[in-house]
Amino acid sequence: MSPQPQAAVGAPLSRVDGRLKVTGKARYAAEFDVDGVVHAVIVDASIGRGRVTGVDTRDAEAHPGVLRVIHHGNAPKLPYRDNPGSNNLPGRRLRVFQDDKVLFHGQPVAVVVATTLEAAQHGASLVKVRYEAKQPSTDLTEAKAGEPTEYARGDAEAGLRDSAVRMDLTYRMARNHHNPMETHATIARWDGNKLTVWDKTQWVVGTQTELSTVFDVPLDSVRVINPFVGGAFGSGLRCWPHTVVAALAAREMKRPVKVVLTRKQMYFGTGFRPSYEYRLSLGSDRRGRLKATTHEIDAETSSYETFEEAIMLAGQMFYSTPNVSQAYRKVPLDVNSPIWMRGPGFANASFAIESAMDELAHRLRIDPIELRLRNEPAEDESNNLPWSTRRLRECYTVGAREFGWHRHNPKPRARRDGDWLIGLGMAAAVYDPNNMEAHARARLNADGTAVVEAAASDMGPGTYTSQTQVAADALGLTMRAVTFRLGDSLYPQTPPHGGSMTMMCVGSANLDACNKIRRQAIELAVEDEASPLYGAKAEDIVVRSGRLHVRGNPARGETYQRLLARNKLTHLEADGSWSGPQDPERHSYYSYGAVFTEVGVDAALGLVRVRRMLGVYDCGRIVSPKLADSQALGGMVGGIGQALLEHTVTDHRDGRIVNADLAGYLVPVNADIPEIKAIYLEGEDMQADPLGVKGVGEIVQVGVASAIANAVFNATGRRIRELPITAEALL
Ligand code: MOS
Repeated sequence: MSPQPQAAVGAPLSRVDGRLKVTGKARYAAEFDVDGVVHAVIVDASIGRGRVTGVDTRDAEAHPGVLRVIHHGNAPKLPYRDNPGSNNLPGRRLRVFQDDKVLFHGQPVAVVVATTLEAAQHGASLVKVRYEAKQPSTDLTEAKAGEPTEYARGDAEAGLRDSAVRMDLTYRMARNHHNPMETHATIARWDGNKLTVWDKTQWVVGTQTELSTVFDVPLDSVRVINPFVGGAFGSGLRCWPHTVVAALAAREMKRPVKVVLTRKQMYFGTGFRPSYEYRLSLGSDRRGRLKATTHEIDAETSSYETFEEAIMLAGQMFYSTPNVSQAYRKVPLDVNSPIWMRGPGFANASFAIESAMDELAHRLRIDPIELRLRNEPAEDESNNLPWSTRRLRECYTVGAREFGWHRHNPKPRARRDGDWLIGLGMAAAVYDPNNMEAHARARLNADGTAVVEAAASDMGPGTYTSQTQVAADALGLTMRAVTFRLGDSLYPQTPPHGGSMTMMCVGSANLDACNKIRRQAIELAVEDEASPLYGAKAEDIVVRSGRLHVRGNPARGETYQRLLARNKLTHLEADGSWSGPQDPERHSYYSYGAVFTEVGVDAALGLVRVRRMLGVYDCGRIVSPKLADSQALGGMVGGIGQALLEHTVTDHRDGRIVNADLAGYLVPVNADIPEIKAIYLEGEDMQADPLGVKGVGEIVQVGVASAIANAVFNATGRRIRELPITAEALL
């Protein structure tokens, strides 16, 4: 087949759904008009561990508008069949209102259903819950760790002993919360044994499976609808207890029920990026070539489930190191379960590794980029596979040039601007784009329009737009002629919208479906005596703006409309799928980047201000440059938050999160964000997938925190090994 002309892919288009969003016509989970809906407000446990000894609902039930209060004492027993899917974690998932146990502060202990939101809110405040409280354990540094996940190659201890230079460093990283603009919400409605939910989720299929197993109803009896997501960053990767509460209450009330989490409830009702302690030892020769590293990693998890993320990979594959040992321990605490958050694992690992590399460079008086180049591995040393594409060197070169790295003076406190000490820092970035099976269905109508459907989500990166671009080029249609539909479990199944895999997995399935349709149409034309293309070679035909023609001879051809009409076809249809790279055993696939930043640190007050930032990325082909740019800026802003502001604080006396709101949990605002720029290297990774993409959304948060910490050192001579970097730490 002739390659199709690429008109839409690679073009910096605006969002196809932009108008819907800015005019308020895009509907989010809580905004659907569902007839007869009533409101539910969850009552959260006010102890950190223990049990409920009594629930007095009399005042609440006497309040006008309150219809019912449901709690473990009167809730129906739910089947909660096993479900190893849906991003459930190893362990035993929280079962809402099934017993009297309180496992963490904020756990749902009751729900008040009322005719209005206000009545439900006030009703919730009138429910009196009595507890038998025990001392919760919520401090990562105090609690006992579980069995480690380990990795080793060579002899790391011997390697460290034999190293000319050795450093032992401990890094601490705060717990972070996702804080999307849209809070999580669910509307649930039962029609007999059939359940429909409008739910904020990054994975309609995951929520569908979870609800089907919790209530023990057939999978196809559950429909999950979610066309728009107002940000998520990972908080929607799993079906959370409040969604079960909504469905449970709807079944009890025999009416649709809506639950909207408050901002405060987002801090214990969904997940979070766990806090870490990362002890890194690193040995090198005098020229900075790594001989050995050891990684002792402790991370929090809940008492009832074990959360693991890809914190170990970077230490295995990023730098050439003959001897590596790692132990990753999950520390069970009396908290709700963590979940992935943007750049999961890598955003934490890179803070430790990339900060340590900067320390090593400084100690050996080697330029930080040069040190990294000396440790570039020829292949993936964790599995001895060649890289598919690894253009990290180019990220350094382009970044150094565009940022002006030659102005970096390795001597700390060398530059000043009034009260401000000025420093430059850089760090490398890597992310492992996940890869899972995906499906899509495409339909070309007789009027020359097309529709593609997949059960994907769009939490903000612009899935509607980028998938339309892929479909438009594969079908040979204009953007305007193609509609991409997502966010409905009735559509073909896709993996979670996360892990930087939507473009690769859903995009490849979409491409497959659209390629099949184009080929069907071409076959039809060349075998149709009435077609001007009759007898032409199928492989010579391309389609452009809905018109099939012989490559290089645009006069000989016809439109899809004429072809389908003459053949009395209402449409052509095809299913597409993607099941991973052609040969996953042959290559190692990663996205790469290099982050450069200049900070100012107020010499008297310890305030850190990022003055400018540049990220240079090797992410394969960029399908949608304008949206990818937006992803990078957003990710870097997230990294600035991780570096300088974001810190979930728990009162260890009772397990309460004390800053569960946007006044106490700080995220960057416009005034925190100076000149910020992203560059994507032009190119493609055709080993990875037929689109040549490697994933954009996660890597852009990776490396930012270490680049900032390294710049803070360059400005002040102070090594801060704890996130966030606060003014107190610099005084
Ligand atoms: Mo991403 S942390 O998988 O939403």
